[in-house]
Amino acid sequence: MYLNLIFLGAPGAGKGTQAKLLSEKLGIPTISSGEILRDNICRRTRLGLEAQDFVERGELVPDDLVVSMITSVLRLPAYQQNGALLDGFPRSIEQAKALTLALKTVLNQEIYRVFYIKVGKGELAQRLSGRSICPVCNTTYHDTKNPPLVTQRCNKEGATLYRRSDDTYATTLNRLQVYFNHIIPLVDYYDRKGLLEIINGEQSVEKVNSEIYQKLGEMARTPQLSLA
Ligand code: AP5
Ligand code: MG
Repeated sequence: MYLNLIFLGAPGAGKGTQAKLLSEKLGIPTISSGEILRDNICRRTRLGLEAQDFVERGELVPDDLVVSMITSVLRLPAYQQNGALLDGFPRSIEQAKALTLALKTVLNQEIYRVFYIKVGKGELAQRLSGRSICPVCNTTYHDTKNPPLVTQRCNKEGATLYRRSDDTYATTLNRLQVYFNHIIPLVDYYDRKGLLEIINGEQSVEKVNSEIYQKLGEMARTPQLSLA
């Protein structure tokens, strides 16, 4: 059985948080386009060098670079069996079409559902300004809304948490602007395909997760998906 889910939402909406929680529950691996890009930037790979300026300015990395990056990841054995929880990809209609094609040609699979996590602008800005991340397991925390048990230490790994370099005030504003320029056509695109589920992202992390899980459970009345 495989399950390909897409998480759409603004910077700070909780795409990464929810994809990771669901991955732990369902045993389906995540693909986070932002994490892969940051890793490539950190390792100074060719992709990283090409993407760095875009990420630092909060602009979208060109479609051709991101599409070929995701298509190569989908070829990894981990995704053949279970599918993928996609966080941050696609972000344009071109990427959405390329994803459908890549899933078909690489894995002979389809998209199962698209979860659009909606959060208002004021809340987004607060979330991004207080975010910190574990460098080992990528778990995301927030200074006040979702703090670690020990200040600046990951609950699971004990590692010292870091702040993302694109969480500065100026880059955050641009990321939000870029997001609002692209999201409506993408949401419409998946809505027309009957794949869209809208999630209220302004609830607690746990409540958002239960809402997603509950929606999956409702769909799971089809025999190919059974959730514990
Ligand atoms: P990416 O890494 O995808 O960043 P983003 O879209 O800006 O989203 P974030 O990761 O900031 O937010 P999130 O929704 O994951 O929220 P999180 O769970 O961390 O992309 C970075 C850059 O890479 C882009 O700007 C672009 O340059 C490039 N890029 C990536 N993908 C691309 C693509 N497909 N095409 C082109 N370019 C691409 O949560 C945020 C905070 O809120 C955390 O502190 C968390 O603890 C807290 N929180 C989460 N949920 C809740 C809740 N329910 N209540 C309270 N707090 C919460
Ligand atoms: Mg994220």
